[in-house]
Amino acid sequence: ATSDPTIFIIFGGTGDLNARKLAPALYNLFLDGWMPKKFSIIGTGRTKMSDEEFRTKLLEDINQFSRSGKAEKEKWDEFIKNVYYQVSDAKDAETYKEFGKRIDAHNAEWKAKANVIYYLAVAPEFFPIITTNIAKAKLAEDKKRVRIVIEKPFGHDLESAQELNKLISSLYDDCQIYLIDHYLGKETVQNIMAFRFANSILEPIWNRNFIEHVQISVTEQLGVQDRGPYYEGSGALRDMIQNHLLQLLCFVAMEAPNSFNAEELRNRKVDVLKAMRKFTPEDVRTSAVRGQYGPGWIQGEEVPGYRQETKVDPNSNTETFAAIKFFVDNWRWHGVPFYVRTGKRMHQSASTITIQFKDVPHLVFPAEATDSWQQNRLIISIQPEMSIRLQVQAKRPGIDMVLNTVDMVFDYKGTYTNEAPEAYETLLLDTMAGDQTLFMRGDQVEAAWDLIMPILKTWEGKKSLSFPNYSADSWGPEVAEALIARDGFHWFTLP
Ligand code: BG6
Repeated sequence: ATSDPTIFIIFGGTGDLNARKLAPALYNLFLDGWMPKKFSIIGTGRTKMSDEEFRTKLLEDINQFSRSGKAEKEKWDEFIKNVYYQVSDAKDAETYKEFGKRIDAHNAEWKAKANVIYYLAVAPEFFPIITTNIAKAKLAEDKKRVRIVIEKPFGHDLESAQELNKLISSLYDDCQIYLIDHYLGKETVQNIMAFRFANSILEPIWNRNFIEHVQISVTEQLGVQDRGPYYEGSGALRDMIQNHLLQLLCFVAMEAPNSFNAEELRNRKVDVLKAMRKFTPEDVRTSAVRGQYGPGWIQGEEVPGYRQETKVDPNSNTETFAAIKFFVDNWRWHGVPFYVRTGKRMHQSASTITIQFKDVPHLVFPAEATDSWQQNRLIISIQPEMSIRLQVQAKRPGIDMVLNTVDMVFDYKGTYTNEAPEAYETLLLDTMAGDQTLFMRGDQVEAAWDLIMPILKTWEGKKSLSFPNYSADSWGPEVAEALIARDGFHWFTLP
């Protein structure tokens, strides 16, 4: 945390991300006493709006989306007097002069130099123009105090990501650049590091000698909703795997860092991405599968197929599901498959990491005594359940020697009484404190693009003839089952 006076300038101030995530996060940080005494939040966008109108909108948003529920009048009044709105045109130099004036006015009033955080919660085509204009207006000269936060998607492919990186690094110091992947802010995701690197019992078995394979699964019940135009140009591979799922994979596969330091940690994660096996066209055919949802029923409600969603091409080739088998070619992971999958309109919303350990070398019990041939499994459940389970074999009480699988469970609900903050609270607090540990670095983003490019290219170049190939409320297309079943495994799901 920091006590430095801070000014947030949020581009896309009237947008969805601010409404659902950023404003509620800032408000909850305020409620929990994390905001500096002197702060100001300036929402900005093309829509004309007065401070009053903006404040009323945010109150509605917070009442709807904040984890703390409806705002209490007294606290709200205290918070909202620090919030302003400025209409802006990202292309117009005048806009940035206005920001400069506002910053100067705050500094004069506070008799201090505030940290200034520019948050780009806008469509990616605006990243170059806004970052350039902030720098041109000389608003980013103070390397220690000025930071710039960029939302995903960072690039559309390797080339565009490289271009954007080049531009931004020519305008800002690395220490000013904060690339967000909100999965890194999730409580349970951060805990993977604590779990792996603060416990000595795991390290000896965390490798190819003991681990058979790893599964990373992020399934959602939601469809694309009103995000058709964005999603049509994206698909599951870009939207989820290039960023969130590969980041989870990095946490599982990385070597122990020497210290909990931003550069150190990010170096270890880049090492993983660089060790990952690049796909040949033949690998894409055998190790990557895609799907698109058709219509169906979810929780008693009839839902349209992807091609029937608003502003989606009725012949769309965009994948809403992807499953890929990766390898990390280094000593620790040689030969251990990492299966990742993600999809929309799936049977369950659940993000889990499953570590499947190898079987005992020789089973002393008769086959009929065991109910499972996979004896030990570690399941890190990220959401909605927040838990870590170790599955072991145990003797069922009774005269006979009969074994079954039981869970040793660490469950957040039963262990802690305090509510976990939302990912964006953690990440916004880190931007205020100048801590980049939980942010992506440009080279990391590029390495992730580099890895998935062969898959992207193959899929884009070849129309899937079988779309839609899974119905809403299912576990995805059959090809995804086949992908893992071929190796003798199956996708694990929590009951
Ligand atoms: C976003 C994707 O980055 O992550 C969405 O663009 C997806 O398509 C979302 O729904 C999932 O995030 P969470 O926090 O709900 O798991």
